[in-house]
Amino acid sequence: MPLPSQIRRIVLTGFMGAGKSTVGDLLAEKLAWTFVDVDKEIEARAGMTVAAIFAKRGEQAFRALEATVIRNLSEREELVLALGGGALETESTRTLWNELGSTCVVFLDAPLEVLVERCLAQPGPVERPVLADRDRLLRRFESRLPHYRAAHVTLATQALSPAEVADRILDSIAKRFANEAAAESVPLR
Ligand code: S3P
Repeated sequence: MPLPSQIRRIVLTGFMGAGKSTVGDLLAEKLAWTFVDVDKEIEARAGMTVAAIFAKRGEQAFRALEATVIRNLSEREELVLALGGGALETESTRTLWNELGSTCVVFLDAPLEVLVERCLAQPGPVERPVLADRDRLLRRFESRLPHYRAAHVTLATQALSPAEVADRILDSIAKRFANEAAAESVPLR
């Protein structure tokens, strides 16, 4: 099914380990759009890793930088954007997509145990300060769920490969917007 023409951006959200970066890359390739991973962009602009920003400047400073980077990137069209798992904690980011319009926000959903397992199984030295803070992990996950669930499209990813998730996203967007004159008419809280 073709992507509805009013959709000019796809924004992937969900907790750490949801597959936002892997799926985002595949999706952009399928659409011949640009893929941007917000965490990578933040690291490039700050000249240090996300973990170093948390350690040196604190989480609040990271969230402020994250919100600015997302706003700066989001004017682009033909864009697939992978948000960091905590980006929707910032209210201005939650309302940004409605302001911009033409944007479909997709929540990649999976149970917390699966997400943690996936993060731990990832190769390479990806440091995740929020994952390391195990005492707060469940509370964080639960407090973010309503923001994730406000997305236009929710996809259960547990039993799917990244390629299947990318295909399902395109199908779901086509169905979701089939009867909409414009994406702007679909509010996202
Ligand atoms: C965070 C998730 C990370 C990154 C940062 C904070 C979070 O992104 O933005 O470490 O608060 O959940 P991923 O979801 O891509 O791992």
